[in-house]
Amino acid sequence: MRSATFVEWSAMSPYQIVHIKPGVIHYPGYFDVGEQVKLVTSLRSLVADAPMFTPTMPRTGKPFSVQMTNLGSLGWISDRQGYRYQRTHPVTQLPWPPIPQWLLDAWHEVGDYPLDPEACLVNLYSTNAKMGLHQDRDEADLEAPVVSVSLGDTGVFRVGGTARGGPTRSFHLESGDVVVLTGESRLSFHGIDRVIGKTSTLLRDGGRLNLTMRRVSPRDLSRIGYSRERAAAHVAAQKKGPYLMAGRIVETKLRIPQARLNPAARTSLIERLTPCGSKP
Ligand code: SIN
Ligand code: MN
Repeated sequence: MRSATFVEWSAMSPYQIVHIKPGVIHYPGYFDVGEQVKLVTSLRSLVADAPMFTPTMPRTGKPFSVQMTNLGSLGWISDRQGYRYQRTHPVTQLPWPPIPQWLLDAWHEVGDYPLDPEACLVNLYSTNAKMGLHQDRDEADLEAPVVSVSLGDTGVFRVGGTARGGPTRSFHLESGDVVVLTGESRLSFHGIDRVIGKTSTLLRDGGRLNLTMRRVSPRDLSRIGYSRERAAAHVAAQKKGPYLMAGRIVETKLRIPQARLNPAARTSLIERLTPCGSKP
């Protein structure tokens, strides 16, 4: 049975809070238009140092329809070798830029979690891009929420339960909206059916940006069944890098070849992240 959506208006909070179902919380218009313009301007300089790349599917090597980059101490990537978190950009080999304070503030305000996020995945959708239903399960700390911020054109977000093939429902994510997946819905299947073009003027050439923050490292290694030795090795490897995957350290030296970096993306993204009405 579909659980009822209920909307909460709290005297303590200036935001509308829509409980789509337990653990799926939607904050429509969390960032107002003025804030969104500032946010895009701040992202513009960050992604200049960490250019967007086109990830590929594990095994098949099929390219994703979204372009990606990351902010934070760990970044999520996908290529033929699989999904994983790593400390450096696969093309530049440089550490990812830091997660800006405005995103950390949003995480703490809506996420109700004591530690900062380690990873912020930045997805750029053109109007024909989408993201299939998937679970965010490459993180060892599943007590931490997933907090996602949408900017630009409206995305049709689909969310189900924790079993593939179960019932799903969809709702619109507009520019400035925030969604939290937490508790019993932390591992819910979710994806973007489509992006509705011309619904926002935030990005100069349209499209949608999604920023997804996650905690990756286990909060308490012993609680997920690690021996003391394995926990110590895990923590040491995390400090050194370079590659980390939930519960498993991946020591590949694989890089995404330069050729796979969309050559137009670096400059075009910086252009696109010029909010409408502001001078580049
Ligand atoms: C994601 O699940 O990585 C992105 C979801 C979104 O674009 O809203
Ligand atoms: Mn996801």
